[in-house]
Amino acid sequence: MINFKSKIYVAGHRGLVGSAIVRKLNEKGYKNIVFREKNKLDLTDQVQVAKFLKKQKPDFVFIAAAKVGGIYSNKNFKADYITQNLQIQTNLIYSSYLAGVRNLIFLGSSCIYPRNSKQPIKEKYLLTGKLEETNDAYAVAKIAGIKMCESFNEQYKCNYKCLMPANTFGPNDNYDEKNSHFLPALILKSHRIKINNLRNITLWGNGKVKREFIHVDDLAEACVFFMKKKTDHSLINIGTGKDYTIDYYANTISKIILKKKIKIHYDRSKPNGVKRKVLDISLAKKYGWKPKLNLKKSIIKTYNSFLKEIKK
Ligand SMILES: NC(=O)c1ccc[n+]([C@@H]2O[C@H](COP(=O)([O-])OP(=O)(O)OC[C@H]3O[C@@H](n4cnc5c(N)ncnc54)[C@H](OP(=O)(O)O)[C@@H]3O)[C@@H](O)[C@H]2O)c1
Repeated sequence: MINFKSKIYVAGHRGLVGSAIVRKLNEKGYKNIVFREKNKLDLTDQVQVAKFLKKQKPDFVFIAAAKVGGIYSNKNFKADYITQNLQIQTNLIYSSYLAGVRNLIFLGSSCIYPRNSKQPIKEKYLLTGKLEETNDAYAVAKIAGIKMCESFNEQYKCNYKCLMPANTFGPNDNYDEKNSHFLPALILKSHRIKINNLRNITLWGNGKVKREFIHVDDLAEACVFFMKKKTDHSLINIGTGKDYTIDYYANTISKIILKKKIKIHYDRSKPNGVKRKVLDISLAKKYGWKPKLNLKKSIIKTYNSFLKEIKK
């Protein structure tokens, strides 16, 4: 049983999701959280990871370390995405097992599901169809992580859970122009329009596709909830269950940041990605978790933290 003194290792503690998990654990009173900087522990290095986990012997491991990026980066650097993600997750899962860690949460992504999935997407739709091509290398790595967790549960009676979040946003997001996800990229673009007093914004695709976003603090709450929860399922979706068009997000964010409506141009020569992507979160709800945060308030909070982050 995990308690406030249990040793909890958060891999990826500086990232969007990992840093939110650390904040949430601290907030809830967990006292024994361990993490390592990338320059001290490169998670793609099997020997280093095995040594670290054997020495630390944590009671619980969160795998929030990964090579993560937006559509451009996923499409153009597939070899890096598949290699690094397979390395990081395989090293962490296998070495955790060898170090006697029986409880672990592996974070994946909703892109593991087929591109033409029925909506909302249920966990059982995994491996029932073709993946979205722009990020299939990343998705295949994540699916391998899920299968690895399931296999260790089956063969060695481990308790390795896989949480599949919807698109996530919040403090410590990646605002790099070419590597970021849609929502942080939109925050950055809108902010630039504001400071340069520009009048319009250009976005990829046609603006009509629908996406779901969850604030990272809601996701972190789910991580801590499922860290303690006994479940019969190893794969659980985490989201809000609500999706809106790209155009809706663009208008909402520009109104929040610019305090006015601006002209949005859509570059239709660029890919849209899948038409609609919304998770069915009824399984998570059945276990007693549900999202709490309001979308607009969360975007305002995220913009305020973005303003602090760009000053650093
Ligand atoms: N962001 C989303 O919208 C989203 C949505 C669904 C699921 N997820 C999942 O949540 C997980 C975390 O995503 P995120 O958005 O938090 O990503 P992120 O902000 O890019 O954070 C990833 C973390 O992994 C660390 N890392 C990467 N390679 C490493 C290596 N070789 N050795 C040590 N550390 C390494 C990074 O360290 P440095 O900071 O030192 O580089 C960073 O702290 C991923 O599995 C992702 O699939 C994210």
